[in-house]
Amino acid sequence: MNDPNAIREHIDVLLSQMSVEEKAGQLTQFFYFGFMRDIPPGAAAELPMSNQPQHVEEALARGAAGSLLFVREPAEINRLQRLALEGNRHNIPVIFGFDVIHGFRTILPVPIAMAASWDPETVEQGQAVAAREARAVGIHWTFAPMVDISRDPRWGRIIEGAGEDPYLGAAIAAAQVRGFQGAGLGTPERVIAGPKHFAGYGAALGGRDYDEANLSDYELWNVYLPPFKAALDAGAGNVMTAYMPLNGVPATGNRWLLDEVLRQTWGFTGWVVSDANAVRSLQTHGFAQDLAEAGVFGLNAGCDMEMAIADAAYAHLPAAVADGRVAETALDASVRRVLEAKLRLRLFDEPFVDEEHAQTVLNDPAHREVARRAAERSAVLLRNENNLLPLDRDSLGTLAVIGPLADSQRDTLGPWCFEFDLAETVTVLAGIRAKIGDRATVTYAPGIRPAQRAFPSMFDMFGGNAPEDPADFDDAAELQRAADVARAADVAVVVVGEWQNMIGEAASRSSLDLPGRQLELLQAVVDTGTPVVVLVLNGRPLDLRWAAANVPAILDIWYPGTQGGTAVANLLFGDAVPGGKLPFTWPRTGGHIPLIYAHTTSHEPERQDRRYWDEHSTPLFPFGHGLSYTTFAYEGLRLDRDRIEAGETLTVAVEVRNTGARPGDEVVQLYIRQRHGRAARPVRELKGFRRVTLQAGETRTVEFTLGPDELHYWHPLERTWVIDAATFDVWIGGDVTAELHAEFAVQNSAG
Ligand code: GLC
Repeated sequence: MNDPNAIREHIDVLLSQMSVEEKAGQLTQFFYFGFMRDIPPGAAAELPMSNQPQHVEEALARGAAGSLLFVREPAEINRLQRLALEGNRHNIPVIFGFDVIHGFRTILPVPIAMAASWDPETVEQGQAVAAREARAVGIHWTFAPMVDISRDPRWGRIIEGAGEDPYLGAAIAAAQVRGFQGAGLGTPERVIAGPKHFAGYGAALGGRDYDEANLSDYELWNVYLPPFKAALDAGAGNVMTAYMPLNGVPATGNRWLLDEVLRQTWGFTGWVVSDANAVRSLQTHGFAQDLAEAGVFGLNAGCDMEMAIADAAYAHLPAAVADGRVAETALDASVRRVLEAKLRLRLFDEPFVDEEHAQTVLNDPAHREVARRAAERSAVLLRNENNLLPLDRDSLGTLAVIGPLADSQRDTLGPWCFEFDLAETVTVLAGIRAKIGDRATVTYAPGIRPAQRAFPSMFDMFGGNAPEDPADFDDAAELQRAADVARAADVAVVVVGEWQNMIGEAASRSSLDLPGRQLELLQAVVDTGTPVVVLVLNGRPLDLRWAAANVPAILDIWYPGTQGGTAVANLLFGDAVPGGKLPFTWPRTGGHIPLIYAHTTSHEPERQDRRYWDEHSTPLFPFGHGLSYTTFAYEGLRLDRDRIEAGETLTVAVEVRNTGARPGDEVVQLYIRQRHGRAARPVRELKGFRRVTLQAGETRTVEFTLGPDELHYWHPLERTWVIDAATFDVWIGGDVTAELHAEFAVQNSAG
């Protein structure tokens, strides 16, 4: 249903018939962990009442729950939907939400990896596959994209976003929404996108997940909010609030965020859901006195729906309406937004899912191809001294694969995925064996045992989340065996990184060191004299100083997903060419955090690389960095005008040439700098990028436009968007250190 009048009339009728209790029920979303049904009553009893399956089913049967999450089986979804429809008087269906972050059954590379493709089309295609699989099983809404800007890689959720930059972040956010939603809410085989966590969550103090974020308006409007605005401009139908206090006021009860920014300034008409328990935690924050007041503060601030993992705060809303703390009109406004989503998804007419068709969709081989291609286009070639890569499969006699991560299906997938099929997950080792096993000898040695977290992960409850510590593992003998295997090979591929439970939610880390004995293993392999290729399995920058100084080739493969090993093998042997670029600045060590490229100029900028006395303070690898198997040259940078009025647009053009002997992709990046104005502006800001494929010797003209959207910024004193009369530098190249330069002037200011 898409006729706004019909939708409005249908909702008007429902609201006139619904009790206040039924309205509060529509604003309540419960976790439903079906597997908890099989837990002995004693253990299940430890769960908060609302999460015991029978309690949720009872709530459904009396119209006290309008939405569920974490239900992933089509038959289960249909069963629970039937319970709800039979239970409530108005035949209102349940809307099912879930974390479809980077794939549902077919697991895509993690979001930071897809951002590293700098290719909105790759991102959109990937999320369209994720949406098709999720919708097929009966999930209507995904809690994604996560669009939190992250400038502190100690924060584990850096993996779920698009890195440090608002311009790249906005482009990736919009591409994800297009992928999830298609042409708009209700598009067949698509789901509602719910950008999260609104807002500022990535600025957690010390990179400690869930801790407070304190951001100036200057940072909020110019860095942290733009990706949300881009997601909403792309049509996202939902927004999820963040856990933490923003500038002292919890985001889930923050009227400035949820009403002034979201509704009044941006005109958002979708509905807002809290993060898990984030309404209840308004009491934990010392903001609300009790659970009932937490519900009042949440609803009145603009949080339409409560995601509850314990007794719902919104169960107290009927009492709050009765005593006047919540106006029924406010309650109705929230219910209206939720019912509108259900109507636009046609859930009233088609509440059930075709269980047989679901399996057909999940098994569609085309989805694996999309995942493989996304993994190939996400990889970032960090180093390739003497062009060690691509390897020559014909001259290769023996290739050694070293490191436990090389043969771990679960870690190849990364965090935030649950419905994967491990049996079809291709590891690095399996991918290499499939590629060259018929003509070369591929040997393998883990060398070390997996590293373990010091503290358990919140995801351990799902089983298989922590790596098994191998029994009877002789550390000394295994390390020696790995060295022997490497020594006997023509090339050694060493896979290092973090185990997937070491990054993601509640996986902040106090250092960037390679966990466990990986560096020792790498050094032992390098000491054999066999040429080494390092593959990095990661979601945050790691301390690769030793590798960067001693290993000729380093390829960042992130957590490449279901088809990861196949993609990696294609990249290693040149059947795919790396073209990804870093979506964040890569610090030398954790002690340099935060290290961003878009800093402002300060005192003695000429010493920017020696701010510390003990280590260079420049990045190990700069933002936007990524090599190829070919090379590119830039020339002919020109502007169609060298001065414009504020509000006008100019065109920038450049020629990019593939100067190598094989085809390759280059991400052409445009950076600007405003030399002076009413505020100190960053030394460089990304304001344009384009990924292009060039044949050997091919030259392409690439054009960008620079206008108000690129040249304005939000001014902390004017408290609005401004353009300054100033001279602007323009650089274009293959990363943030680009040197090809031009300049122009904006002759007058605006705003
Ligand atoms: C989690 C996360 C959020 C997720 C939600 C539901 O705690 O913060 O990103 O969507 O709960 O799983």
